Amino acid sequence: MKNLRAIVAAFAFLIMIIVPAKGVNLLPTPVSCRETKGVFPIGTVLTYEAPDSVAGRIERVMSRMFSPLKIQRIARNADLRIEMDDKLADGYNLSVGKKGIKLAAGTYAGVVNGVATLRQLLPADLTEQTNGGAKIPGVEIKDRPAHGWRGLMLDCARHFFTVDELHRVLDLMALYKLNTFHWHLVDDQGWRAEILRYPELTQKGAWRKYDGIDRRCLELAARDNNPDMLLPADRLRVTEQGDTLYGGYYTQQEMRDMVKYAADRGITIVPEIDVPGHSRTLTAVMPELSCEGRSSASVCPGNDSTLTVIQNIFSELFDIFPSKYVHIGGDEVDKRVWRQCHRCKARAVAENLPSTDRLQAWFIRQMESYFKANGRTLIGWDEIIADGLGEGNAIMWWRGDHTDVIPRATAAGMSTVCTDFDCLYLNFDNNDRFVDKILNLSDRLGRLAPQERRALLGVQANLWSEYVPTFRSACHQIFPRLFAVAEVAWTDPTAPQRLTRKEFDTRADAHYALLDAMGATYALPEITGVESENIFVGKTEVAPKMRGNHGTLRYTLDGTIPDPSSPLFTEPIEVTDTLSMTFASFRPENTRSEIRHARYIPVAGYSPATEAANEPGLRLYRYRNGEIGCVADIDRQPCVGDTVVAQPCMPGYAEDRCYIWRGYIDVPADGIYTFTLSSDAGSTLDIDGKRVVNNDWVHVTQRRRGQAALARGLHPVEIRYFVWRDASGSFDFEVNPPVSFRH
Ligand code: ACM
Ligand code: ZN
Repeated sequence: MKNLRAIVAAFAFLIMIIVPAKGVNLLPTPVSCRETKGVFPIGTVLTYEAPDSVAGRIERVMSRMFSPLKIQRIARNADLRIEMDDKLADGYNLSVGKKGIKLAAGTYAGVVNGVATLRQLLPADLTEQTNGGAKIPGVEIKDRPAHGWRGLMLDCARHFFTVDELHRVLDLMALYKLNTFHWHLVDDQGWRAEILRYPELTQKGAWRKYDGIDRRCLELAARDNNPDMLLPADRLRVTEQGDTLYGGYYTQQEMRDMVKYAADRGITIVPEIDVPGHSRTLTAVMPELSCEGRSSASVCPGNDSTLTVIQNIFSELFDIFPSKYVHIGGDEVDKRVWRQCHRCKARAVAENLPSTDRLQAWFIRQMESYFKANGRTLIGWDEIIADGLGEGNAIMWWRGDHTDVIPRATAAGMSTVCTDFDCLYLNFDNNDRFVDKILNLSDRLGRLAPQERRALLGVQANLWSEYVPTFRSACHQIFPRLFAVAEVAWTDPTAPQRLTRKEFDTRADAHYALLDAMGATYALPEITGVESENIFVGKTEVAPKMRGNHGTLRYTLDGTIPDPSSPLFTEPIEVTDTLSMTFASFRPENTRSEIRHARYIPVAGYSPATEAANEPGLRLYRYRNGEIGCVADIDRQPCVGDTVVAQPCMPGYAEDRCYIWRGYIDVPADGIYTFTLSSDAGSTLDIDGKRVVNNDWVHVTQRRRGQAALARGLHPVEIRYFVWRDASGSFDFEVNPPVSFRH
């Protein structure tokens, strides 16, 4: 009997976990959520009871998150009763029923997490509720985070975001239970943190004449008629000489206020000063810290003053930011200038280093001692792993193709945060597949060895802002992808039951309205079913699609970009001749989201097939990495081996990552085949000796597609791909409909 009861209880618990609550679309997915019968109505005021230790702070948060509802603390019989229960840590239990709302959490952060869930249960637009009252569905939720670090990095150096905008970013992070804001404060393009001891860092370093990225943003704004890509006027100033400068910086008081604002939302701010590379601004203001006495990509580690100045800068940050972790940067350090510098050479000799290149690790170790002496833990990009960095530090694993980073860091006693550029860099092209990549990250994290999982602090998305000049453009890059980031950061990667892509899409669709209500914009789903060049034999249909139903598709036929008065695309159009169309998706507020230009081109017939050797797979040739700038350079390098592979996909990490795949594609039926190459850096695809996809040259992850009209049978294929120097690399090949390979 006891056993039977246990079985029934276990079964009931399982149902509670795996049956998604109807009508309740929470993101990230709670550990368990059961929908109950009752609903709880609230009017224009939400009353709450809470211990003094949380009341003031959580009231500030709720007043903003639940606006325009009035939040009022009362002594008893409140709508919302908040209690502390140590056992729950940063997790929480939330029940909503006829009698009211009860929230229990172990920490203040847990209370914020519970309040974020409550906000998601409320109607999106609370202004509409002021007359009728809001209804909260009855639920029993038990929830806790799988990872302690659920982060978002915002690069405020390439483009500057105001404190008010950052507050809104923190509000949105809290709503999706992200708890770490990594503040990238300096880079080659600007210095944003006031340092009292060195005021010129912001007086000079926070301002620049328009540079290449600014000009590109303005070009994109004009090309796409997109005001979100303009440089905001409040970030421009005109000097006495008549120069227009772009910039801005945060005073120490503003940074302290940010810390407090974030803490109210259960968010820790981790500041970053990126050294010894990415130092053009620092060395422009203080040329004496460089090897050559002028603005330089890297500081001079041979110069004692370099260490003193950088330590003084961190010392001021330690006073402002109470976080355990402080970020040193350490990525993409250009060491070439060190090889010619007499001070660097002398330092390498004095420190018994085999080469000046090792000064990178030496510099980081010096900073590590300084951080430790100040009670802080150093975190840096994964390049800092080299050369015996000590235990207790942390690594941000951004070069996801360097698969040895987590094992090496764990073995050395370091913690890791996963920020794999291939799926967590939100500045990259937003497309439907990107969300799959983010969600699939859970599988990869679930496969880590137990000790590696224990050393994993969590997951973080990064938004580099070269082409993100406004808050609206930032939101467009961040959402809806941040929903998926929150999902993998919050949920247990080893849990048997995880959200499928379809379930994720259903939930995400329900959240667009919440973003609308919060004044945050987002990218509508990708416009699919049309390519930039669409070939056809005889006739075809123009049939663009957009997943979900939160938005409309409009089009033009004259090459201009659709506006809200352009015709709606409602049904497929038959095409028999050349045609150009431009599609755009519009949010409910009639702002434009995605643009797709599409040309339709008739071709005479299907390219004939060949008789050929017929073993499964392709032959993969590997070449030595060198100064490769385009795919034509690959086979100018020595070939270091070849092998047969089933598919063109990225082999495991190797020092040499330049590849050519050769063989045949086996086409199952006459038809139009669409090929996609997404790569960092260049890649190309040739079929029947003709270039079908051109994704060549050195670039960050970029997707290109091409089509070929192919007759059933075998067609020679050659795919080329290279990684730039020892940088991060990514490569994805897709073909639709599917084909097989022969060699
Ligand atoms: C990086 O993307 N350079 C960390
Ligand atoms: Zn030097």
